[in-house]
Amino acid sequence: MNRVYIKTYGCQMNERDSGAVAAMLRKRGYAMVDSEDDADVILLNTCSVREQAEQKALGKMGHLTRLRRKKPHLVLGIMGCMAQNRGQDVLDRLPDLDLLVGTQKFHQVPDHLDNIITQLQAQGPRPSTIVDLDEEEGSQNTIRDHLDDERQVSAFVSIMQGCNMNCAYCCVPMTRGRERARPIEDIVREVKELATQGTREITLLGQIVNSYGRREIPFQSGKSPFVQLLEAVHEVEGIERIRFTSPHPRGFKQDLIEAYGMLPKLCEYVHLPVQSGSNSILKAMKRPYTRERFLQIVEDLRAVKPGIYLSTDIIVGFPGETEEDFELTRELFESVGFDWGFIFKYSVRPNTSAEPLGDPIPKEVKEERNQILLDILNKSSLRRNESLVGSTQEILVESPARRGEGLYTGRTRGFRKVIFPGKPRLVGELVPVHIEEATASYLRGSLVLSGINAQDESALQQRSTA
Ligand code: SAH
Ligand code: SF4
Ligand code: F3S
Repeated sequence: MNRVYIKTYGCQMNERDSGAVAAMLRKRGYAMVDSEDDADVILLNTCSVREQAEQKALGKMGHLTRLRRKKPHLVLGIMGCMAQNRGQDVLDRLPDLDLLVGTQKFHQVPDHLDNIITQLQAQGPRPSTIVDLDEEEGSQNTIRDHLDDERQVSAFVSIMQGCNMNCAYCCVPMTRGRERARPIEDIVREVKELATQGTREITLLGQIVNSYGRREIPFQSGKSPFVQLLEAVHEVEGIERIRFTSPHPRGFKQDLIEAYGMLPKLCEYVHLPVQSGSNSILKAMKRPYTRERFLQIVEDLRAVKPGIYLSTDIIVGFPGETEEDFELTRELFESVGFDWGFIFKYSVRPNTSAEPLGDPIPKEVKEERNQILLDILNKSSLRRNESLVGSTQEILVESPARRGEGLYTGRTRGFRKVIFPGKPRLVGELVPVHIEEATASYLRGSLVLSGINAQDESALQQRSTA
């Protein structure tokens, strides 16, 4: 009764939360499995950000509840953003769910599962759904119990929860609650533990990382709490690379731009969501900046780190987006030359301030705008990758590649994926790789070992024990 499969929808925050739940369950003696067919417990960690994400999870769970008629011992649960945001709707649609857990209660999952399983083993009637959606004071801090014993070469670290903005289209403030920061000392302690377990790269996570701690922690010598946090984690020995996601253009101030020049572990890659290139749409979206300000940030970043890698999020088809508005987005998109990005077709979210505007832009128009931006993106991503052919890049080796015997995968500091022939003992190492081939989505290359042939075993040995 103790094999658990967790399926994760949504963003990195959810990936981290699922990893945390898995770690807690392992400590309780549960076994994590990779396939739902082998599982006694199936948990979906859900996302509410677009309707499609909700439909997928609901459809999946509907299928699983039907399957359970043949496997009555199967325990089924929904966790995360959709549970939080649409709890009653979910229960109405899936009344025989065993467990519904919100975004502030992930740490309760092991207790709830223990209870359900004990009752099922006693062979009494199936217990009614456990619903745990309350807010919990300090829940941003309970997440540090979630550390896993398994080595993660690259790890997500949650620095805050929630969001206090009210972007007109967005449900996240409802799913994740008000903004709450974890103390710098707690985060540093977690990063140190990760480093001890072999983590080399961390990605700091928050809805708007650059507003981290702005109510709790004072500025120091002109440095915002977020930059203070970056400096503090930069000190942690063993951590070689630092990333974060997502910053917001509004608070992207000079201290953060300068951090790129001062903190060598801070990778020269920024995911900076712009959402639209049209000022009137930005205003309608309640995004408090202009395209000019966004372009200025890009220019300032490039002044400090020429060649910095940039990616973004765009929504196409927000209510009222005219051809001219879209043209402004297309133009901004083209002129910045993003290295990567995510394009989303607008989806109405219940109880957001844009909900009353409906969804007036036809599906085909959204599809067409989406395709135009995707084409630009593929071209600029390929152009960037091609420019790296012939260069040597520092790669953090993450794992064996999914396909191809002896092939390994890792990323450059600019977050480009690289595939190359490697060795198991190089996982977790920073190695120089000579780039030989480019596609839009990844690079191929081979190891360079101080001018020595990559096959030289003793050189490999030296490097991996250095
Ligand atoms: N906190 C981040 C965004 C988190 S949500 C920020 O402010 O940048 C991730 C992305 O989903 C958003 O950047 C946005 O592009 C997209 N998104 C959010 N709500 C959406 C909606 N209703 N329809 C389509 N895309 C949406
Ligand atoms: Fe959503 Fe806006 Fe908050 Fe980002 S900043 S999570 S888009 S409300
Ligand atoms: Fe992330 Fe989706 Fe929740 S984007 S914060 S999982 S609503």
